Amino acid sequence: MTSVLESAFDRLWEPLLPIGRNAATSGYRRMAYSVADLGCREWFVAAAEERGLAVETDRNGNMWAWWTGPWGGPSGNDAFVIGSHLDSVREGGAYDGPLGVVSSLAAVEVLQSQGVVPRRPFAVAAFSDEEGARFGVACAGSRLAAGTLAPDAARALRDDDGTSMAEAMTSAGLDPGDVGPDVDRLRRIGAFVELHVEQGRALVDDGAPVGLASAIWPHGRYRLTFRGEANHAGTTAMADRRDPVQAWSRTALAADAAAREQHGRATFGRLEIDPNATNAIPSEVRAWLDARAGDEGTLAVLLEQIREAAFRSAQSSGTSVDLVVESESPAVQFDATLRGAVASALREPEGHDVPVLPTGAGHDAGILAGAGVPTAMLFVRNPTGVSHSPAEFAEQSDCLAGVQALVTVVQSLAC
Ligand code: GLV
Ligand code: MN
Ligand code: MN
Repeated sequence: MTSVLESAFDRLWEPLLPIGRNAATSGYRRMAYSVADLGCREWFVAAAEERGLAVETDRNGNMWAWWTGPWGGPSGNDAFVIGSHLDSVREGGAYDGPLGVVSSLAAVEVLQSQGVVPRRPFAVAAFSDEEGARFGVACAGSRLAAGTLAPDAARALRDDDGTSMAEAMTSAGLDPGDVGPDVDRLRRIGAFVELHVEQGRALVDDGAPVGLASAIWPHGRYRLTFRGEANHAGTTAMADRRDPVQAWSRTALAADAAAREQHGRATFGRLEIDPNATNAIPSEVRAWLDARAGDEGTLAVLLEQIREAAFRSAQSSGTSVDLVVESESPAVQFDATLRGAVASALREPEGHDVPVLPTGAGHDAGILAGAGVPTAMLFVRNPTGVSHSPAEFAEQSDCLAGVQALVTVVQSLAC
């Protein structure tokens, strides 16, 4: 027989699945304020309202579904908030973000079916533009609220088609003039718990469906622009070339070696080449570096090694390079008290604790933690360990274990 928990999860998950899905690749494109993202937002409003929650979109595009009652609503203090995000990277998977939002709404439905009500203000949140896949800055919605992304800088960000974030927000019916720090809202959150698909295989190795986050690695996004000289691919002798692809490719190899040496990560996941013609030496390469490491000192060393390699490679190929920081996120240690409370709520009767693991991925929970909100994260096992790809996956039974974990945590800390 299907349990309340299973049917709650399925009825939420299934209508969301086709939105923004590329049938040819099974990948998702739900970039901020795109048609697909707006479809996900409509799904969120309908799903929350069906469960009696009152939805508001804040001035930074983040959505909040409040379970209001005698225990309070949006203006109350010490709110308990669960949730995640709905947007995706380009050709992302189905789980990164939506699993947390679906599981949170399913947890509310399960609690409601048991006649349980909160004892403090309670909301499910869906943060805006977590991936930064369209405008380049990760966690734009939570960063704006926290004051770590300046309103003017955010409004001016542009996507590949030249559309600014301000224009995209306007066409989504939001007022970009209103974006900015939302200190009062964040101050009223007493705890935020984000459930997320695991983006590695630690829980597979631990044999556990659900884990608890200890920390987020510091990370940053950097744009390197290599400039050379466009010329004929056939008539320009190798010695006469100023080819920015040569400079970038040597930098990429050096970045890979440096990341291995520092036990960190370095990825060039996005490239633009001008003029992008087979029989022309390129004039310019724009390359986006994502760099991460276990601590801030190591990340600084890694970045310096990559910067030096970029300048050395540019010099030796007669090109130039400049490096611009697009966003940086410091290391996050999740709140020890909240983490302890979540761990004890999830402790099995035999006394087993859920595994605790750090992550190299960025999350809105990290931004909120940096803004002083007590924050914790739950991870759901991912058998492939793959994320930001259509191969991202979680077994149905593990997703249900994630919902049950949220129910247990909310019951223990908020009801
Ligand atoms: C978000 O998923 C990130 O870590 O880039
Ligand atoms: Mn992601
Ligand atoms: Mn995510």
